[in-house]
Amino acid sequence: MSLPEGRIFGGRNIGISFNGRQVLKDVSLDVGRGEILGLVGPNGAGKTSLFEILTGRYRQGSGSVFLEGRDISSMSIHGRARLGLARTYQSPVVPDSMPVGEVFRAARYAHRPYMSRFDAEWGAHQTELRVPWDRPSGVLGTFDRRKLLLACLLMRKPKVLLLDEPASGLINSEIDELDLLIRKKADEYGLGVILIEHRLELLSAIADRVIVLDLGEVIAVGDPKDVFDNPRVLAAYFEDSAGG
Ligand SMILES: Nc1ncnc2c1ncn2[C@@H]1O[C@H](COP(=O)(O)OP(=O)(O)OP(=O)(O)O)[C@@H](O)[C@H]1O
Ligand SMILES: [Mg+2]
Repeated sequence: MSLPEGRIFGGRNIGISFNGRQVLKDVSLDVGRGEILGLVGPNGAGKTSLFEILTGRYRQGSGSVFLEGRDISSMSIHGRARLGLARTYQSPVVPDSMPVGEVFRAARYAHRPYMSRFDAEWGAHQTELRVPWDRPSGVLGTFDRRKLLLACLLMRKPKVLLLDEPASGLINSEIDELDLLIRKKADEYGLGVILIEHRLELLSAIADRVIVLDLGEVIAVGDPKDVFDNPRVLAAYFEDSAGG
């Protein structure tokens, strides 16, 4: 068992249950170099749980995870990070009183081998983060805080980036800027990106391909336009998640 030809990262037949309730069932997904895969689905579909398994925070009940042809299913979070897997969290926490420069320093020392200040500056440049480094992170706007966390990941030059609802709390012009930024990094570095978003309409602008989860199962995969016209997808959205 492995990934289809040309895919850098993904999972096969992933399942997990919590307290006897199946939250993911037989989920397979994969992403290629330079590709942006949109992972979409109503609230509670299992999107974040899938990221927890892919990154090694949760252990899957069944199935396997692969990175560059290697089975990493039983590898630790840190082992996977060292191999080039990076992720952001749905509710990112930036220590408010910590100056921007200190956040970068903590991120540099959390990585082995340690990274230099030049790496951090490079990361800031990658995300076009233009804020004074002595400023407390808590006073930054939502978008700058998100850029800061993204910069801390990009400076490690990851191969795969998993983003959990990176557009939440941003205004439209910021979402457009973020989309452009992610696209640019995917193209420049051949980065494989899996991006969670529960609003269907936001994905067509950025995703090369989309995979739709509903109640823990894949109900559609493919080109965003085709997927969003799929009656099963529309039903999942408009029947299961009214108000989601
Ligand atoms: N550690 C856990 N223990 C018990 N149940 C969990 C755990 N993690 C997730 N779940 C359950 O799994 C289901 C899927 O949750 P998950 O957070 O993966 O969904 P999601 O698609 O990311 O939703 P949202 O769009 O709201 O972020 C939910 O019913 C949730 O309560
Ligand atoms: Mg989630």
